[in-house]
Amino acid sequence: MKVLVIGGGGREHALVWALRKSSSVTEIVAAPGNGGISALARCIPVDVNTLEAMVDLVSIEAPDLTIIGPEVPLALGVVDELERRGLRVFGPTKDAAQLESSKAFAKSFMQRHGIPSAEHALCLTLDQVRESLLNFSLPVVVKASGLAAGKGVVICNTRLEAEAAAAQMFSGVLLGATETEVVLEEFLTGEEISFFALCDGKHAVPIAAAQDHKRVGEGDTGPNTGGMGAYSTDGLLTPAMRQWITQNVAQKVVDGMASEGTPFKGILFIGLMMSPRGPMVLEFNTRWGDPETEAIVLRLESDILDLFNAAIDGRANGLAIRLKPGASATVIAASGGYPGKYASGLPISGLEGEDREGVIVFHAGTALKDGQLVTAGGRVLAVSAESDDLEEALNRIYRRLEEISFEGMQYRRDIGHRALQRR
Ligand code: AMP
Ligand code: GLY
Repeated sequence: MKVLVIGGGGREHALVWALRKSSSVTEIVAAPGNGGISALARCIPVDVNTLEAMVDLVSIEAPDLTIIGPEVPLALGVVDELERRGLRVFGPTKDAAQLESSKAFAKSFMQRHGIPSAEHALCLTLDQVRESLLNFSLPVVVKASGLAAGKGVVICNTRLEAEAAAAQMFSGVLLGATETEVVLEEFLTGEEISFFALCDGKHAVPIAAAQDHKRVGEGDTGPNTGGMGAYSTDGLLTPAMRQWITQNVAQKVVDGMASEGTPFKGILFIGLMMSPRGPMVLEFNTRWGDPETEAIVLRLESDILDLFNAAIDGRANGLAIRLKPGASATVIAASGGYPGKYASGLPISGLEGEDREGVIVFHAGTALKDGQLVTAGGRVLAVSAESDDLEEALNRIYRRLEEISFEGMQYRRDIGHRALQRR
């Protein structure tokens, strides 16, 4: 089977790596791919922000299956376009992807279906923001409704700050594009969990839980990023909690979407706050997480192609998704300056013999320039390992990171700190 993977980050490298292990996969094409993916798949440049470019590419390549990695192609409706042409594709339709692409949609959907989430107000004007703010205690969370690559959430300690954040969202100063809907949200406390479920339109089957580290700095300080590292362990959720989230969030989402005529097929990634009032949904994503996927695939014993096919064919129910017991982790090596401005095109050294001690270096923002690997993004590498023991996996990752370098390279040395402190 020939498989096309759309995307070119660490998540897509991890998906391609997992697909390579499937005996049914004969050829993998990645678009655009990256410097690391090119060792496992033929990479073809494509603009993932342009629907026509992606549809044309699929017509030319004629894969047996297309897998969509990032959120933007889903929000553009690439799945709808491919399905209309009778092509086989994994991921939600444009309407179903609104769970991620519109926080306004997601919040009212959760309200309609009794899914636990923070109190909120939807505002279309600055006057509405001012008025609604009086109903919230401080701090208060201000969110742009649309996709914002992690930059659309501001936690505000004063109402004035909240008003200013909303004003910047409406005017386009904050995100580079104007936002028409702003969501105010009650501030929640607790530990965050990323929960992944495979959905086939009718059923939600849990895959794994992971914990991301969103802030750039150690001790969870500094600005938010796409994620600086993640781990997945058996102990992250009790079996009872895993079941509770599956029934009361994931399955409710699938049932609700089906009842509204927009069945959800694909990966449902639930961002949860384990608050004193119980698990509350912070956000939905309609795709695999990055960097969570780089950790999770190392534990996945099931053939990943079987998961994709079961979801597409509506037979995920009863699918036993097998994970290796123990732990896995990934640590991001990022460009100096990230998540702000950073340089690109810097040579990367120390990547020879990539699987020492079983450590796998997934590439996020890398490119091959005249045969030399260079940096090509904010998050550059996702150095990943799996072990019976989380600390052991992390030690191997950090030893491997010592050998890798590029100018300005930064990484957090405290990935997994919450899990290690719990022991
Ligand atoms: P989101 O994109 O909605 O997941 O928000 C990004 C990050 O902002 C989350 O991972 C949380 O760390 C934080 N956040 C979002 N909503 C809330 C909330 N209601 N209370 C506290 N923190 C939040
Ligand atoms: N790790 C968070 C995300 O993929 O959005």
